[in-house]
Amino acid sequence: EKHFAVKKNFSGKKILITAGPTYEAIDPVRFVGNRSSGKMGYALAQSFIEQGAEVTLISGPSHLVKPGGIKKFIPVESAQEMYEASNKCFPEMDIAVMSAAVADYRPKDIAQEKIKKADSGMTIEMEKTTDIAKSLGEIKSKKQLLVGFALETNNEEENAIRKLQNKNFDLIVLNSLRNPGSGFNHDTNQVKIFDKEGLKFQSELESKTTIAKMILEQIALLK
Ligand code: CTP
Ligand code: CA
Repeated sequence: EKHFAVKKNFSGKKILITAGPTYEAIDPVRFVGNRSSGKMGYALAQSFIEQGAEVTLISGPSHLVKPGGIKKFIPVESAQEMYEASNKCFPEMDIAVMSAAVADYRPKDIAQEKIKKADSGMTIEMEKTTDIAKSLGEIKSKKQLLVGFALETNNEEENAIRKLQNKNFDLIVLNSLRNPGSGFNHDTNQVKIFDKEGLKFQSELESKTTIAKMILEQIALLK
């Protein structure tokens, strides 16, 4: 098959990958999170390593085993920590792939002590986190490639293309949550890949390992 024929495409290339969810603290024992497993990001890391790349993986909390042969593994919890680590590494990278499911909001104040229950209900005030992908898109040089993901349930293609433009991505991978077996916490995925010109590639439902190889092939075609 074609996507297995491409070998060692990324020899010596420096790749940044964000993966997994972020946890946003409420108090010392509680957080707001999401169901991302990190599988897609870890599969991408594995694929890049197999093709000779030096991979820096910045990962939110995940039970996955970190891929062997990784250059640098940076575990983080919050969107802010992921942002700081990504922003620091990015200037020396050739390619950044933003596969993390970053929280869009975090509790405005983190309680120093465990919050006690009361007779009433409760409200947590939230504020926006930094958009990591967008900030990298703003400082990206001509030599660097930035690849993003989009997880959509409606107006999928339109939303994905808007994200590609807004965040200055070179490529965006669209996961449709409408497809059973696709997206969060599955071993399989079905994607469409867009560049600035439009639709470049469309997959069937495949393992995340195969999807990772297909994404790498599309990135290789951009260089
Ligand atoms: N992303 C990021 N930092 C954030 C939010 C998103 O780096 N604070 C990245 C994701 O890793 C992904 C891309 O931006 O590569 C799109 O994420 P998504 O959640 O689909 O888009 P948002 O811009 O957050 O918009 P919305 O959730 O409202 O659809
Ligand atoms: Ca979001």
